[in-house]
Formats: sequence, structure tokens, C-alpha cells
Amino acid sequence: MAVPQNTIWDNFLSPVVRLLIDEEALKRYALSIDWEQESDRIRSNDVTVPNYYSSQNFHGIEGGYLNSSAAVSYDPITQYFVPPNETWVRQALIDAIKVQPRRILDLGCGTGSTTLMLKQAFPQAEVIGLDLSPYMLVRAEDKAKTAGLDICWQHGNAETTGLEDATFDLVTASLLFHETPATVTQAILRESFRLLAVGGQILMLDGNQKTLRQVEMLNDVFEEPYLREYAAGSVDASMGAAGFAAVRTQDIWWIHQLTSGVKPIPAADARNQKNFQMSAPRSTETTIDNNDLEGVGSPAFGVVV
Ligand SMILES: C[S@@+](CC[C@H](N)C(=O)[O-])C[C@H]1O[C@@H](n2cnc3c(N)ncnc32)[C@H](O)[C@@H]1O
Repeated sequence: MAVPQNTIWDNFLSPVVRLLIDEEALKRYALSIDWEQESDRIRSNDVTVPNYYSSQNFHGIEGGYLNSSAAVSYDPITQYFVPPNETWVRQALIDAIKVQPRRILDLGCGTGSTTLMLKQAFPQAEVIGLDLSPYMLVRAEDKAKTAGLDICWQHGNAETTGLEDATFDLVTASLLFHETPATVTQAILRESFRLLAVGGQILMLDGNQKTLRQVEMLNDVFEEPYLREYAAGSVDASMGAAGFAAVRTQDIWWIHQLTSGVKPIPAADARNQKNFQMSAPRSTETTIDNNDLEGVGSPAFGVVV
């Protein structure tokens, strides 16, 4: 790991974490994979790496996520920096899912920790993990293979995925937005809106913006080039601006937050539906037939907002 900045991580935490991590085991793992060959297999030549991403170091690693050292060290380090317990925090996202998803997209999936949990929670769903770093995807793919989970790993930019309109019931991202400039965050939310079917849900898990504003020193723990910009913003407001309805942010412990939103029925369709309901003769039957909801185009029946 290169040390280009004097962060709290470099000065105090890194030596402690190094004691906790089995560095020899990590080296053995790193050497067990031909990272260049494997990342070339996953890399798509259609993907242009944006400047905000390639020009910065993240977590003090030179070249950010575009190397194998980021992919190998990410999980062992992250477990100590998502308190009180990484799995518990990620589980909060899973527990907040209100749809019965058939297709799930996890944006900026990294090494796939949340993506794997999504597939475990919804084994019948098609799950796609998308990331700009083919190295992180190699690690994610290896984890899924070990866990026996069938997940599609896709090299791509969450701002412009190239995936088809309205083909997902659930779009998620964990720990992504604190690493993207505000304009990129907004572009990713617009893209998520485009990808979701009406009634589909978006869930964004990340650092607690309120806490980051209140406890200034948290912004200096790691080398995080866009963290202050993230802290100054509001994912809640950005989600609303992207067109989502029923937007709600909840604190997960005091250090994280989870924002949920739903893609609403377009206003014109909602008006037509209301007119139709008003002009249709009232039925006295009490049997509920959900099949007629399929015409609305939402696979996300039973969404509770
Ligand atoms: C802090 S990591 C989070 C990884 C994972 N979601 C997790 O919860 O551990 C941020 C990830 O977002 C990816 N990323 C950043 N900007 C992206 C973009 N525009 N499109 C796709 N992935 C992006 C990075 O490559 C990195 O793997």
C-alpha cells in the first residue's frame, strides 16, 4: 500500500489493522490468481473509466481500485471499518427490501459482499453485480464461486450501464456514494431510475451524512477524495430529484444510513388509472385478483411504501 497522505489511517490505524490481518495468507491468496489474465477476461473494452475515478487514490492505494492489491486487501480491512459489525450493517439493506425481486442490480458492487447476501436472500432472482474495477470483480467472482452462488459480474460504469430500460425490480448500492462526486451520484440515481420497472425499489447504504458533518475528524480517517462533498449533500434529496417517491433515510447505528425510494407510476398513467376507476362500474365482489396489476408493468407486487 502506498502512503501518499497523512491520514488517521496512515498514522494510527494501519499499524493496528496490520497486526489483526494475516498478511501472509493475503500474500498467498494474491499469488494464487493471475490477476491480469482474470481481469482481462472480465474487462469490457466498451467501458471508459471516468477521470474522477482514475485520477484519485482511494484508501491510500495508488491507482485506486484499478489493481489487484485493492481487491485483495478490501475485505480484510473493511470488516474493521463498518462498525459495529459489517454483516449486520449489510443485513439492514437486505431487511429493508419491500419488493419480491426477479432481477437485482448491485451497483459499485466491489468484492460483492452485499451482492452475495442479495443472492442468498433471493435465490430465484437473477443478480448482477456491476463495478468499474475488473480486479474487484475477479475477487467477487471468486467469493461467489466458493459460496456456490450464481451471480453475473459485469464490468461497467454505474452512470451509464448500457442495460435495458425498466428491467430491474431492485437496484442497490452499498458504500458507493461516499466515493463519487455529487454530479456522478446524481447521474447514477438517474440511471437507476431508468433501469427500474415502475414500483421497483432503490436502496442506498452508506456513511451517515449527518454524523459526518457533526464529527469532522471522521472525514480524515481514510484518503477519500469525495467524502466531504458527500457529507455536505443529501442522498434523500438527490433521490427525490431523480424522480423517486416514498424516499426515506434511516440511521443504521449512528455511523451509517440507508435510503430507500420507489419508482412511481408516471403521473399521466396514474391519472388514466384514476379516470378508469371512476368510470368503471363498482363491483360488489370481494375477491382480489392481483393478475390485473400485471398490466401496470410492475413486477414488484406488494410494495409497501
Ligand atoms: C467502497 S467500494 C464499495 C464496494 C461494495 N459495494 C461494498 O459494499 O463493499 C466502492 C466501489 O465502487 C466502485 N465504483 C466507483 N465508482 C463507480 C462507478 N461509476 N461505476 C461502477 N462502480 C464504481 C469502485 O470500483 C469500488 O469497487
